[in-house]
Amino acid sequence: MHTNDIRTAYLKYFSAKGHKIVPSALLVPENDPTTLFTGSGMQPMLPFFLGEKHPLGTRVADSQKCFRSGDIEEVGDNRHTTFFEMLGNWSFGDYFKQEQIAWMWEFLTGELHIDPKRLYFTCFRGNESLGVSKDIESAELWQKLFASVKVDAKIVDFPERDGMQGGRIFYYDETKNWWSRVGTPGNMPEGEPGGPDTEMFFDFYPELGDACVPDTPHTGKFCHVNCDCGRFMEIGNNVFMQYRKTQQGFEELKQKNVDFGGGLERLWAAANNSPDVFYMDAFQHAKEELEKISGKKYGEEEKETFAMRVILDHIRAATFLIGDNVLPSNKDQGYFVRRLIRRSIRFGKELAISENFVGAVAQGFVEYYKTTYSVLGEKQTFVYKALVEEEEKFRKTLDKGLKELEGRIEKRNVTGKDAFELFSTYGFPLEMTEEIAKEKGIVIERGEFKAEFAKHQELSRTASAGKFKGGLADHSEKTTMLHTTTHLMLAGLRKYLGQDVHQAGSNITEERTRFDFTHQEKVSREILDKVEAYVNEVIAKKCSMTTEVMEKNTAKEAGVEGSFWEKYPDKVTVYTVKADDGTVYSQELCGGPHVANTGNIQGTFRIIKEEASSAGVRRIKAILE
Ligand code: ALA
Repeated sequence: MHTNDIRTAYLKYFSAKGHKIVPSALLVPENDPTTLFTGSGMQPMLPFFLGEKHPLGTRVADSQKCFRSGDIEEVGDNRHTTFFEMLGNWSFGDYFKQEQIAWMWEFLTGELHIDPKRLYFTCFRGNESLGVSKDIESAELWQKLFASVKVDAKIVDFPERDGMQGGRIFYYDETKNWWSRVGTPGNMPEGEPGGPDTEMFFDFYPELGDACVPDTPHTGKFCHVNCDCGRFMEIGNNVFMQYRKTQQGFEELKQKNVDFGGGLERLWAAANNSPDVFYMDAFQHAKEELEKISGKKYGEEEKETFAMRVILDHIRAATFLIGDNVLPSNKDQGYFVRRLIRRSIRFGKELAISENFVGAVAQGFVEYYKTTYSVLGEKQTFVYKALVEEEEKFRKTLDKGLKELEGRIEKRNVTGKDAFELFSTYGFPLEMTEEIAKEKGIVIERGEFKAEFAKHQELSRTASAGKFKGGLADHSEKTTMLHTTTHLMLAGLRKYLGQDVHQAGSNITEERTRFDFTHQEKVSREILDKVEAYVNEVIAKKCSMTTEVMEKNTAKEAGVEGSFWEKYPDKVTVYTVKADDGTVYSQELCGGPHVANTGNIQGTFRIIKEEASSAGVRRIKAILE
């Protein structure tokens, strides 16, 4: 089955079960200061578990772009990826265990045609100290479904201790069968929702009987579904979001929720009986490009295959992140994009690639994904440019850093502090420094590196905590005037700089507008003057500002300006500035507030500053005087 077929089948299946399909949210969460990236489909849904009403009802499903920064160093085996799509369905106080389990069974066996004999399930063993009982109901529901296809499915209590004993359904404790955004019950802060879950596993090697995959690093006496020998793969997780952490322990939420998440890559692996997710068709174009550039073949040689996986995963993730306007930088989210690109280049060296290749491999992903994630098609030049610039930059420091490191190695022992300096100054990943040092018999103190790194992270966290929030400071008359003016300015910028210019952030107070937009170079004063004149002309013309609810596609085709179209529902509100003679000066997606007529804007518009904000993003400060 092709990736697109699986995504479509899933959304169609849940749509038929009364779910409204919503677009993927951005990779950078909008209203969730607890995390840098969207790492699961449920993150944007959090308020609806706690009782807020979702505008589309109590049943919602989607395919969500996810990025898990914590997995960067796991990539290289046949299953880990930092970026993935998570298929998700949610019940906000609507259906519960019975429906969810039956539907999942039907989806896996009926839609993906997975042989039930390849399926295994795990449930929560219960824990008295948490006040949460054993999830017998889920275990028995799975057991009945197996029975319906004449498979005898034994339920086993301690698989990690006693082995699988011919069972198909297993109980585990809260380290395995509990889910919240921050992991186990012990990690959850007060107020955080979470609950027991039932996970679904696929067996790639049934012929092995009770045994692990030979020659793999694994611990424990027996193989079981959570063993890391690679025999089983978790393909989905049904979380029963039912509790909330309190000072004393847990209390039941007002409503019982279901949060399902299944990695599309992994569901593809199961549907195609391929333990290696990198054979997924989504990787094909990019992989062929990489093979062409390197002259190496995926799957032939272990070390090279490892490097290719890292490169494919990292470039795919960087492509999607840049598509969501996260550009390489030294802090916050941008720091991870930088790390992904640099790590790819370093692994490119293992394939003996010394010319630029990141942009070309990214094109392979853009080609594949642009029909599903249109933002990649729309921004392909922007994404390509950002990747190539970062690659060129790193190729310069790469050689300087190598010289520096070799120099230090000649003089003395290289410490963890050195490694951190190489990392922060030349962008050298620790592993690269380690590898080079190791050739000279030097082992780098990782603890020391990590301590320096933690200090650095602490600094960047402090910096991000003090950062201003986007949007309007208030809804006063002056701020509202500047908001409308900002729309006009964007229209002017697009008129004189081209259609690649889009909003990348804004902060508007009574005094000024601060506006970030995508553009690669400094904007000349001459152009800024033209933009000013454009805005002042529209103010002088006393144009009306009207709003209209439109079909998203119609708005898009009509050339309405907006960033992140994907995150909007099917119907959008369009704000139009139009003169009496019918000339349209600005047409943009927005939520207001705005002046009713540009004649209400008092003062003359002036751009007082234009500067770089981050790579590929410029910042303007402007006022009404
Ligand atoms: N939110 C759950 C997960 O990410 C489904 O595994």
